[in-house]
Amino acid sequence: MIFRQLFEPVSGTYSYLIARRRGAEALIIDPVLEKVDRYIGLLRDLDLRLVKAVDTHLHADHITGLGALRDRTNCITVMGEQTKADVVSMRLADGDALEIDGVSLDVLYTPGHTDDSYSFVMEDRVFTGDTLLIRGTGRTDFQNGDPRLQYESIFNRLLKLPDETLVFPAHDYKGDTVSTIGEERRCNPRLQVKSVDEYVALMNNLNLPNPKMMDVAVPANMHVGLSQEAVKERGWAVTPDEAIGLVEQSDIAFVDLREPKERARHGEIPGSISAPYRTLSEQIAGGGVVRELARNRRLVFYCAYGERSAIAVRAARESGIEEARHLHGGFDAWKRVSGPIKRV
Ligand SMILES: [Fe+2]
Repeated sequence: MIFRQLFEPVSGTYSYLIARRRGAEALIIDPVLEKVDRYIGLLRDLDLRLVKAVDTHLHADHITGLGALRDRTNCITVMGEQTKADVVSMRLADGDALEIDGVSLDVLYTPGHTDDSYSFVMEDRVFTGDTLLIRGTGRTDFQNGDPRLQYESIFNRLLKLPDETLVFPAHDYKGDTVSTIGEERRCNPRLQVKSVDEYVALMNNLNLPNPKMMDVAVPANMHVGLSQEAVKERGWAVTPDEAIGLVEQSDIAFVDLREPKERARHGEIPGSISAPYRTLSEQIAGGGVVRELARNRRLVFYCAYGERSAIAVRAARESGIEEARHLHGGFDAWKRVSGPIKRV
């Protein structure tokens, strides 16, 4: 297993790079924009292919590296379904699994610091974002924070994990790198309360100044989505309304780039062919299923929000597949115009 805890000193942020082995797929949790060059260098050194960049929540104290990593590696950007970020490529919900080759993280919705805060459990460890910090907890006084929800998230979700579970938070300002669930239960001063009301009173009386970067970071982090306009201007996009008219046409193939779990949860456009985004380069190479399909069909790629498909349509065109377009806004936009949906 490859596991790297990376530090950004200005905001005191920890980012985590995870992969099963050298040469495999990788994911990164809570990357910071200023460190993207370093992540790319490390990926190269370890011969890893970044496939997912994940934020535990919408950060107020630093600008996320999600957009820059997507632009440089074509990775999938991932956040929770409650996020107000304009577009991320994949949205998770409680109970989902966050997966790459040989690695699976359980997804826990742990609101309270923000209403889009998630934690991820991987084998012997948990990534707690700003929900549970080492000897602290994330503030709850902005971004729809709620101390009552945070109490529930900590006491009824995170502290239910085995005591020896390692705790890796999104921040530390004192130089601590890791703790355990048992240690935090016993020693975290914020958790020595007798009731939820006591916790709420404690959190509501912290009177913290706003983070220095907040006015810059929050708006920037809300707009990490890939602009699909350039793809549209080149005539490589179809609107959801246009796409509805293409469903029955025999010379059209809808290619669904989402993962099996996303398809199972949301359904698909009737008659779609599944080709998960992670396998795209093989699918459009010589002998690949999508390339074969393109011999006598016009392709319409789609995904959840149009981000993966916008990248795919460019890759397909670059590989010489000329009759390729994508569904602008993705399956989310399709649902909004009441396009037909088949359960998978
Ligand atoms: Fe935060």
